[in-house]
Amino acid sequence: MNEVIQQLFRRKSVRAYEDAAITQEEKRLILEAACQAPTAGNQQLYTILDITRQDLKDALAVTCDHQPFIAKAPLVLVFCADCKKWYDAYRDAGCSPRAPGVGDLLLAVSDALIAAQNAVVAAESLGIGSCYIGDILERCQDQRRLLGLPRFVFPAAMLVFGRPTPQQQERPKPRRCSLEHIVHSNTYRSMDGEELRRMLDYHRGKQSYEDWLAAFCRRKYQSDFSREMTRSVAEYLEQYQG
Ligand SMILES: Cc1cc2nc3c(=O)[nH]c(=O)nc-3n(C[C@H](O)[C@H](O)[C@H](O)COP(=O)(O)O)c2cc1C
Repeated sequence: MNEVIQQLFRRKSVRAYEDAAITQEEKRLILEAACQAPTAGNQQLYTILDITRQDLKDALAVTCDHQPFIAKAPLVLVFCADCKKWYDAYRDAGCSPRAPGVGDLLLAVSDALIAAQNAVVAAESLGIGSCYIGDILERCQDQRRLLGLPRFVFPAAMLVFGRPTPQQQERPKPRRCSLEHIVHSNTYRSMDGEELRRMLDYHRGKQSYEDWLAAFCRRKYQSDFSREMTRSVAEYLEQYQG
């Protein structure tokens, strides 16, 4: 395995940080590396918010499902899918652009996430850990107000960064599913109950598969935060319906 692939295997989410700051040079490298990611039509359909105000970090720690480590992260970036800036440029230059639609949003979300992952990999190479915060999709209206997001700008991903504590460094990385269940040959193959059990079995520990899955379903899929995320994103998407 070469060094790049070793780092991809070693990387794990980091949720507790040393006090050591991230230098301006490191931050700039992480941001520049994010911008080197592939981007549809070389448009960079994203805007990155560098959250430096402590009061904003504190607020995001609350609105993103009460995760206090967000407030303690030395670097917090929000990757917004930005369908506004090109639309504004087109209009400013006298074009007659159609309003951005759901397809445009998905393309911009792809761009934003790919840039975000470049930031993760760049940070890792500098010894800086990171964690995605999916709850930026929850309470969408609150996040928009906090971050001053206008129409056609969607907070696709939030990342927090910091140097891992020794405990975080030693913590084992969670295992992944076997490749045979993840990679299908040519066309999609629906997995039957047997295969789904084989795929997920390693999660259950000492519990029965049914007990583990029922608890997981309650916690992750049927939970208030998951319902709220789905509701608030659907509401947000209404503006892209034309
Ligand atoms: C889209 C996305 C959203 C996530 N949201 C959160 C989050 O809100 N809080 C958190 O602690 N971890 C979050 N994570 C991190 C995952 O829990 C983590 O990637 C997963 O458990 C696998 O562990 P690893 O990254 O250490 O390999 C998120 C990851 C992704 C990709």
